[in-house]
Amino acid sequence: MSLWSPDAWLTAWRFAAEAHRGQHELGTGLPYLVHVGAVAMEVANAISVRAQLGVGVARPDLAIQCALLHDVVEDTSVSAAELAKVFGSDVADGVRALSKDSAVGDKPAQMRDSLARIRQLGPEIWMVKLGDRITNLQAPPSDWKPAKIRSYRDGAIEIHAQLGEACPVLGPRLLAKIASYAAFM
Ligand code: NI
Repeated sequence: MSLWSPDAWLTAWRFAAEAHRGQHELGTGLPYLVHVGAVAMEVANAISVRAQLGVGVARPDLAIQCALLHDVVEDTSVSAAELAKVFGSDVADGVRALSKDSAVGDKPAQMRDSLARIRQLGPEIWMVKLGDRITNLQAPPSDWKPAKIRSYRDGAIEIHAQLGEACPVLGPRLLAKIASYAAFM
């Protein structure tokens, strides 16, 4: 039996590809879908390992669709209402919580606000945020100053503190990425 629905994956993947068309990753210049696919891979890997460990994820399709769509509201013209129409309100609510609210002060305040909203939802949404930061703890863009690199690492430590308990695969994996990120400081 499949751990997740391939059709649910493909529908969200194609929607994200259309929404992010023409966008690129910061630093690498690769298509933005490389980031989206990597986050979905982290979540899918965790779902698969957890099934083997006997601590399965209750709603794997919710986790995967939110992973594939997690940056659509923050970074494209797609609205949460539109997502709700196509994917249902749970996916829309998850993606909304994963999106920074630009009306909320500075970047650290926006992250704290988003983390608080994520914590009100199920562990599937927490897993997406863990997978997102794991994916982003690769070599920082070359124009980042040491202070920015340090504060990005501090943000990752905060994400782990707030959400790490949601997943016995992604929590420890984020911790390991935080440790190896020190090499860039
Ligand atoms: Ni992201």
